[in-house]
Amino acid sequence: MLTFPKNFLWGGATAANQCEGAYNEDGKGLDIQDVMPHGLMTPRTERPTEDNMKLVGIDFYHRYKEDIALFAEMGFKVFRLSIAWSRIFPHGDDAEPNEAGLQFYDNVFDECKKYGIEPLVTLSHYETPLYLAEQYDGWINPKLIGFYENYVRTVFTRYKDKVKYWLTFNEINSILHAPFMSGGINTPKEELTQSQLYQAIHHELVASALATKIGHEINPDFQIGCMVLSLPIYPLSPNPNDVIAAMEKDHLNTFFIDVHARGHYPSYSKRYFRENNIEINMTKEEEELLKNTVDFISFSYYMSVCETGDESKRIAGRGNIMGGVPNPTLEASEWGWQIDPQGLRYVLNQFYDRYQKPLFIVENGLGAVDELIDDGNGGKTVNDDYRINYLREHLKQVGEAIDDGVEVMGYTTWGCIDLVSASTAELKKRYGFIYVDRNDDGSGTMERYKKKSFYWYKNVIETNGDSLMDQ
Ligand code: BG6
Repeated sequence: MLTFPKNFLWGGATAANQCEGAYNEDGKGLDIQDVMPHGLMTPRTERPTEDNMKLVGIDFYHRYKEDIALFAEMGFKVFRLSIAWSRIFPHGDDAEPNEAGLQFYDNVFDECKKYGIEPLVTLSHYETPLYLAEQYDGWINPKLIGFYENYVRTVFTRYKDKVKYWLTFNEINSILHAPFMSGGINTPKEELTQSQLYQAIHHELVASALATKIGHEINPDFQIGCMVLSLPIYPLSPNPNDVIAAMEKDHLNTFFIDVHARGHYPSYSKRYFRENNIEINMTKEEEELLKNTVDFISFSYYMSVCETGDESKRIAGRGNIMGGVPNPTLEASEWGWQIDPQGLRYVLNQFYDRYQKPLFIVENGLGAVDELIDDGNGGKTVNDDYRINYLREHLKQVGEAIDDGVEVMGYTTWGCIDLVSASTAELKKRYGFIYVDRNDDGSGTMERYKKKSFYWYKNVIETNGDSLMDQ
């Protein structure tokens, strides 16, 4: 028997840059995604090009009412979305916010409220204003802390009675591997020194702590969390060299949660910094600010990886921006992401043992090619049993972790409606319960269709997880 808490927050997740479209409407400035037509796979362009699927997205900007109604039909308790920073401050460093941008999110939150859906808002989801990247080199520059402070103060104040749950930075640890997408850092990755990279990380960590402080001052009921890309790292073999290699790799990621949850740099970072010639500037004031720890820890979970101390066994995994060696015992998705439901139970336990803070799984899901077929009643649907299997097996492991004693606040599947992929900027890599008729060549009607998984998830929510045991 799986017992999910009564107030468990079931829902789905999106990000502005992957679904809104309307990239230059109502005063929005350009953000870094507008010049990444092929995601992480190819170099960025100087200015937006028509083949960038994100410029149009799935047109959520104009269709949010229809989409939120569909989420409500599934019974969502929570909807994770991000605010596009450049809708509010088009350049990022502007003195005054853009009222049309603020109004758009007022409308979205009001629509959620109509159905009793709690918004869960990511303040920065891979969408730094382009101007901040080009003029300031993104988070390398300490001025970004002030610009971010201004932005979060504006949205916290504006939405203080509409939004309770906030996340400061999406997958903050991904900056280690994707400095432009994650940290708006314009300097090419190959030219970036480790000190510059960790200085940028330090600035983000300070900004995140500052946001937590400001948020709690504006509304003490706010629940503010960090968000990391979780990646259980198993030793490739029982060889102690592999175990130590896995531990050291793991530290690179837990470093981010350690600072957010404990309020200071972890002891192991001293050695890492020394051995990698990393020097960062940290003021006394910043050290104090870091003590503003988060209320909860949120994370994405898609896969686990292995690590080895033996260079000759180091095979590159496919599709995973964080690196790691593939696990020979696991199957993979069509995009090479290895599927490991038990890894989710493992990571939930690992984080809870370490921090004793509530946990929120804010991304999990399967990117797959779907086929739209006739449903036999004059409509269209997708028989996505593969997606149902993936989600069911992961949710069962969430239930196991809850049984282990882990405090889990909720679960939002990634891309609850089909949207544009972050890593490849494709629409054919679909995650949704709702099919969007839009294709990578720009064709399609944008019509929405309910997939088989739509009805499956509705039932899971309705029974608060009990139906997972019937299948
Ligand atoms: C996470 C991101 O890394 O994974 C999302 O927070 C992203 O923005 C999701 O979309 C799935 O990755 P992808 O590359 O399949 O879109």
